[in-house]
Amino acid sequence: MVVGVRRTGLSVKNCTAAGFFTLNSFPCASRIVHHPKDIQPTRHNCGKNWSQHGPSVFLTFPQDYYGKTLKTRSDLKSNACLAPAQPIPAFVLKALKKIHPEVTSKYYGCGLVVPECLEGCKLLDLGSGSGRDCYMLSQLVGEKGHVTGIDMTEDQLEVARKYVDHHTQEFGYEKPNVDFVQGYIEALKEAGLQENSFDIIISNCVVNLSPDKRKVLSDAYRVLKDGGELYFSDVYSSRKLSDEIKNHKVLWGECLGGALWWGDLVRLAQEVGFSPPRLVTANVITVDNMELEAILGDYQFVSATYRLFKVPKISNKASLVIYNGNITGFGESLEFDAQYTFKVDEVVEVDGEVASILSHSRFAEEFTFQPPGVPAGCGVKKPKVCANTRTIAPNVS
Ligand SMILES: C[S@@+](CC[C@H](N)C(=O)[O-])C[C@H]1O[C@@H](n2cnc3c(N)ncnc32)[C@H](O)[C@@H]1O
Repeated sequence: MVVGVRRTGLSVKNCTAAGFFTLNSFPCASRIVHHPKDIQPTRHNCGKNWSQHGPSVFLTFPQDYYGKTLKTRSDLKSNACLAPAQPIPAFVLKALKKIHPEVTSKYYGCGLVVPECLEGCKLLDLGSGSGRDCYMLSQLVGEKGHVTGIDMTEDQLEVARKYVDHHTQEFGYEKPNVDFVQGYIEALKEAGLQENSFDIIISNCVVNLSPDKRKVLSDAYRVLKDGGELYFSDVYSSRKLSDEIKNHKVLWGECLGGALWWGDLVRLAQEVGFSPPRLVTANVITVDNMELEAILGDYQFVSATYRLFKVPKISNKASLVIYNGNITGFGESLEFDAQYTFKVDEVVEVDGEVASILSHSRFAEEFTFQPPGVPAGCGVKKPKVCANTRTIAPNVS
């Protein structure tokens, strides 16, 4: 029996974002540190000496916006922080249903941050807010895993911490596997988070609020273990934003004014050491507020989820991979990103970048890897599919 090798093409679902991510590519400027005029820090923060200046130079505006101005989701002035996520899998819905309504009412995320293969993992949530995602992931990592949420806003942390015992009981755990830390996502060391200590970092609609995205990414890289992953949803603009938009307080608070042009994320991520970002999903944001739309003009925004890995630089060697189907909740197929979906037992040719990610991360155990042209069965690991005698035809598409 001859099995063809599947090569996949890019497909971005739920939006016209495929155009968004290609038509607007143009060379980017060298720096991206946006300080809205009316919320200027007292000293210019170039990202190099964050720890020296400390919180005194931080923006206080998001703290007031998420701590005082907004009481619940219904107070938001646009739908940027309510952007529809992709359909929610049943096991995630089940986990969400167990979360206390007060926590859920203060959820301001713009995507679904549920990476696969979570059992026993140590997670960090950047800008955890009232803790909805932490409590959802607390169930998915299981009692042996752990989730830490970090946020700068005391009012949000208060709600999150209030329900630690409630959820521990609700999930049937002997002791909590969640904790919440007050701190800045640009200063993880100062918040007491150790280098090389997390398997996965998630974040939901927060990085756009930071005036120093490079520092957020470099700190995340530092606290991730080798092979670790930053999996995060955020708002991106179709091109670099004008000063008028960046300086508008409400647009900043609504997660639009601080949005990165997506091309700058790709550049910054690699500059701090990550693998090139892999786009998972993207949804166009319809702002639905005429006053804000008038200021935004023809800028477009998407809520997008990217996955960035801390893995060795790519080898550029394509590889044949077979998914073994053993990841909980993904018994039939694994939708890795917008480009690659791996069906169980199917041979897929991946590019060198993805081969490096899969073979140097927690996914290494879940795949069999073979150089192109090598007959199945001679792979590095023996997949379930080896029970059949298969021959791989590398050039069949
Ligand atoms: C749009 S809300 C999202 C909250 C949460 N991720 C959720 O999905 O509900 C943004 C959160 O990020 C926090 N935040 C913004 N900038 C931050 C920073 N520089 N350091 C720490 N937290 C920050 C705010 O306090 C707020 O709780």
